[in-house]
Amino acid sequence: MNLLVTGGAGFIGSHTCVLLLEAGHRVTVIDNLCNSAAIALARVQELAGKPLRFVEGDIRNPDALARAFAGGIDAVIHFAALKAVGESCEQPLRYFDNNIGGTIALMQAMEAHGVQRLVFSSSATVYGQPDRVPVKEDAPLRVTNPYGRTKLVMEQLIQDWCAARPEASAVLLRYFNPVGAHPSGRIGEDPRGEPNNLMPYIAQVAVGRREYLRIYGDDYPTPDGTGIRDYLHVMDLAEAHLKAVDYAAAHAGCEAFNLGTGRGYSVREMVAAFEAASGRAIPCWSVERRAGDVTELTADPAQANARLQWRATRGLEAMCADAWRWQQMNPEGFTHVS
Ligand code: NAD
Ligand code: UD1
Repeated sequence: MNLLVTGGAGFIGSHTCVLLLEAGHRVTVIDNLCNSAAIALARVQELAGKPLRFVEGDIRNPDALARAFAGGIDAVIHFAALKAVGESCEQPLRYFDNNIGGTIALMQAMEAHGVQRLVFSSSATVYGQPDRVPVKEDAPLRVTNPYGRTKLVMEQLIQDWCAARPEASAVLLRYFNPVGAHPSGRIGEDPRGEPNNLMPYIAQVAVGRREYLRIYGDDYPTPDGTGIRDYLHVMDLAEAHLKAVDYAAAHAGCEAFNLGTGRGYSVREMVAAFEAASGRAIPCWSVERRAGDVTELTADPAQANARLQWRATRGLEAMCADAWRWQQMNPEGFTHVS
């Protein structure tokens, strides 16, 4: 297929592009590089041994979108978004404009070019603090911060768009906690500034860029007192996008799928696993709970297993080993490479 990947230079997009190219798809990426580097796309092409087409531009810019859609597109995978929860609380309008405005502009361009298939990056954040775990797709949806609101609103807009076009199909993928990196160590997660998320923070402590990890709360009602999440390997997540593209081609309508392993790990378990993978000590300090954090969030991935025919196969050891390889080979991320 001819696929348009928005945000394809980012963490999850770059890993997905490698697999799309390897599977024989033709790939166009549109990305404004606001949270990524063009070098990631050079490495994607090197890993896949195939070229992709890159349009540097913003999805809110109709001219850039027109260039991206030129030549014919069969389906869109939509990663492009801002994703930092804390920042979204300080700058909600920027998040509404970029994420929601960007998605509307994208759907308008899809309509103008007769494109009917969309795979969308959603998040477990749409469940807020769930009543029970593991969480199923039909659990109540809740908003706990402006970033989460944009994800929920985008899901709803896509649902409405689909409902108005009987032949359209949309797959909403609710990611739990993507971690790890391509096993080559050539691409990986490269947060700008201080990482918000656990795994990149641990990796930067291990490589000596940060002194210690702050554990946000050790008084949760969990076996070791720290929060539990469903971490999944980014290569498993990338594979899910291949399945989702095929699923969208074969099914009309809008469906949501949880993407996780179904197994939760605590912060302390993550630290221990990373210490084992890296052979480095990770100094930790327990501090106050982080506002908005939940005790435990794990996926019930049964729908994705059954309907997308997708299952996460990589375990915690591979997640840590691959994240560590990436961090060791690129201690400063993509910053100091050409
Ligand atoms: P990322 O920041 O690495 O990638 C997003 C990419 O989109 C970046 O390359 C950025 O430059 C680009 N972008 C942002 N706004 C744009 C715009 N207006 N026009 C063009 N390009 C734009 O993030 P990621 O971790 O790869 O996440 C990808 C998607 O998955 C996002 O939608 C995110 O909300 C969602 N998601 C991520 C996680 C996670 O933990 N990483 C969890 C759940 C959902
Ligand atoms: C966070 C976001 C969520 C978003 C997801 C992926 C919040 C409240 N939630 O999820 O909306 O979809 O990232 O981008 O920000 N932890 C530490 N020390 C750290 C960092 C994290 O102890 O320096 C702990 C957290 O308290 C949590 C676990 O590690 O228990 C995982 O945190 P994180 O990686 O930020 O993911 P989420 O909070 O699940």
